[in-house]
Amino acid sequence: MRRVQFFDTTLRDGEQSPGVNLNAEEKVAIALQLERLGIHVLEAGFAAASPGDLEAVRQVSQAVKGATVVSLARAVPGDIEKAREALQGAENPGIHIFLATSPIHRKYKLNMTREQVLEKAEKAVQMAGKYFPHVEFSMEDGGRTEKEFLCQVAERVIPAGADVINIPDTVGYLTPAEYGEIFRYMKEHVRGIEKVKLSAHCHDDLGMAVANTLAAIEAGAEQVEGAINGIGERAGNTALEEVAVALATREDHYQVATGLHLKEIGKTSRLVSKLTGMPVPGNKAVVGANAFAHESGIHQDGMLKNSSTYEILRPETVGVDSTQLVLGKHSGRHAFQDKLQEMGYRLSEEKIDFLFSRFKELADRKKRVEEEDLISLVEEKWGGEEEIFTLETVQISYGNRSVPTASVRICDHRYPQALQEAACGNGSIDAIFKAIDRVTGEVMHLEDYKITSVTDGKDALGEVFVKLRQGDYAVQGRGVSTDILEASARAYIHAVNRWVSRSTAGEGKAVSVFSGS
Ligand code: KIV
Ligand code: ZN
Repeated sequence: MRRVQFFDTTLRDGEQSPGVNLNAEEKVAIALQLERLGIHVLEAGFAAASPGDLEAVRQVSQAVKGATVVSLARAVPGDIEKAREALQGAENPGIHIFLATSPIHRKYKLNMTREQVLEKAEKAVQMAGKYFPHVEFSMEDGGRTEKEFLCQVAERVIPAGADVINIPDTVGYLTPAEYGEIFRYMKEHVRGIEKVKLSAHCHDDLGMAVANTLAAIEAGAEQVEGAINGIGERAGNTALEEVAVALATREDHYQVATGLHLKEIGKTSRLVSKLTGMPVPGNKAVVGANAFAHESGIHQDGMLKNSSTYEILRPETVGVDSTQLVLGKHSGRHAFQDKLQEMGYRLSEEKIDFLFSRFKELADRKKRVEEEDLISLVEEKWGGEEEIFTLETVQISYGNRSVPTASVRICDHRYPQALQEAACGNGSIDAIFKAIDRVTGEVMHLEDYKITSVTDGKDALGEVFVKLRQGDYAVQGRGVSTDILEASARAYIHAVNRWVSRSTAGEGKAVSVFSGS
């Protein structure tokens, strides 16, 4: 059977989702899970975008042993050098160079002629070929590029050393028939096309990313690109898990093998959702909470008689029904550490000690500690940033006819000393946040606040996600507790810690220098 390679860009294009900002350790955790899923090529970031991105690409490429790890780069020597620096010592390094080719981008963005585009592409690929065993070249906005020009660019970058040519539908404009036709046309017209893999990269602006990607596969694409849960710039990228499951479920039709371990899909989706703070919609195909839920009586009756009446796919096939119960209050540190490792976390002894004590506190309050609870505990603590402030106590005075007042006691580890402040607010949470601002001396603007229940039941953990801004820079924070006010305080302090450690290191949110995807 024909094989199609999966290129995952959750950590690059996916991270370009508004409001998402993954640090290096979070990227490593996702990368290791993607490896378990069997992803072939992993785009770890855009090394030239910021020092933080470069460091993340470096750490991912050191941690990942099987898959090829690539960095995005513009077709300029500086970016190629940065990618080289980030990927030094990687087991399977590669580079992903892009340059826009469409008339609109040539005229308004690049102000370049066709000939200039051809030369720039060729030179960049030649330079990259000296450093990297694997060079992918992307024609940005390929979907709106003249077909014969796509072929001309391909004929310049193939002899220059590209081994994958990607035709992105950058703006999510094409229909499946139109997108598939590009691949057929190139297969027929490009000299030397048999030496390279053609790759599909779609955006979901019109909700057609997965359909377009499948159309490209039918037309001969050997690689597909996308992000877990379909996250990404604007409406997002192709949801890779949907493509993988469509190919497996309709193998009779597509006749394509992927080699992916579909059972890892559920776990991968949950981890990406947690670490990015982007919830998966209930009705999302394959990984949504309702994807395998049957509500109507007629459907339930059919299911009881034979599940094939209303189900084309079993939840366990994609690991959605995986065993959730892991540990309880009698579990020891060893079992706890083993479980974290199995879940893909590589943490220092010191971090495990801290987490273990948080886990014990939780196990005392909650009968069943599930995998989701552990992920939440790990992420809350595990930002990779220096822990400058930690919450010691929070107290609220609330009455429906009085002004809510909060007092917090927070340890500032720089000195170290515990500081106490109180504040009134429009509500209990507002009062807590104001009191924290007083202690930290940072006045943060709350841009987003979300609260979700991590697991089921009255004793479920509440997880709070906040996005704070100061000037041009935004930071995210997460906090968990069985009490939502405490979870809110923890999330806020987590974000402030990120803010303070980043501004001390002179690095705000990685500002993307890439405007095209
Ligand atoms: O959408 C796009 O064009 C991209 C390229 C960098 C491949 O993300
Ligand atoms: Zn893209």
